Amino acid sequence: MKIEFDKLTKGYRKSNGTWHPVLKNVSLSIQPGDFVMLLGKSGCGKTTLLNMLAGFDTPSSGTVRVDGKRVADIHPSRTMLFQQPTLIPWLTVEENVAYGCKIRKDFHQLDYRVAQFIEITGLSGFEHSRPCELSLGMAQRTCLARALVGHPEILIMDEPFASLDTFTRAHIQEETVNLWLSEQFTVVFVTHDIDEAILMGNRVVLLGGSPVGIIETFDIDLPYPRDLNHPLFKGFRREILNRFKRSQSGNRGFL
Ligand SMILES: Nc1ncnc2c1ncn2[C@@H]1O[C@H](COP(=O)(O)OP(=O)(O)O)[C@@H](O)[C@H]1O
Ligand SMILES: [Mg+2]
Repeated sequence: MKIEFDKLTKGYRKSNGTWHPVLKNVSLSIQPGDFVMLLGKSGCGKTTLLNMLAGFDTPSSGTVRVDGKRVADIHPSRTMLFQQPTLIPWLTVEENVAYGCKIRKDFHQLDYRVAQFIEITGLSGFEHSRPCELSLGMAQRTCLARALVGHPEILIMDEPFASLDTFTRAHIQEETVNLWLSEQFTVVFVTHDIDEAILMGNRVVLLGGSPVGIIETFDIDLPYPRDLNHPLFKGFRREILNRFKRSQSGNRGFL
């Protein structure tokens, strides 16, 4: 599914009545099967942008289109993974993973699919555990399994690994990339971590400015799995950081 952000602008009315612009003129085209990393500082408007793709919120002006159709509401073809796990406490891992499909009455081979994604996300043996018995990483993997079991065409990820420790994060980043390589869905992933952006995406979209806009898009044409210490990886890191600094200096860009 092709995603198009077309001259998207978004702001909020503050309680004192003044207008707070967050996003300005964001235009971006995402091809089916892309793994796009939206990289920007905390508070710059990343979640705001994702909420409009998910259909949780509407733009002030401009449009978001998926396969040529304007996004006006939530849809099962687009699933969002949030910063913190969002599991139902009284349901088991298995029941949580199946939950969205059951709500939508999508019962086709559901037990098989649930078991498959529990295995893929490394949760075998914990099918009957409840969220309070899981580590943060396991809970987030349960959310990932729940997101993927419905075979979404677009996976929207809002800094989903930000609260995980280094080791768990590295593992789940690699698992997510492997799932994307095998399942061929489109990923739109928000992060403020430059290494995470270069490790995972085939494109990195650098956001900046106030209100925020796209500074530049980078094609990361490195093979997977990627190595943070590879000279080409370091080259991308340097290039993106330099571009961000240049945009801040006021010569070019938005900040
Ligand atoms: N519902 C809202 N009402 C008012 N302001 C909001 C709302 N949602 C976000 N904002 C403001 O928009 C800006 C961007 O927020 P957000 O998209 O959450 O940033 P990020 O995800 O990049 O950290 C912040 O200044 C925030 O205060
Ligand atoms: Mg956010």
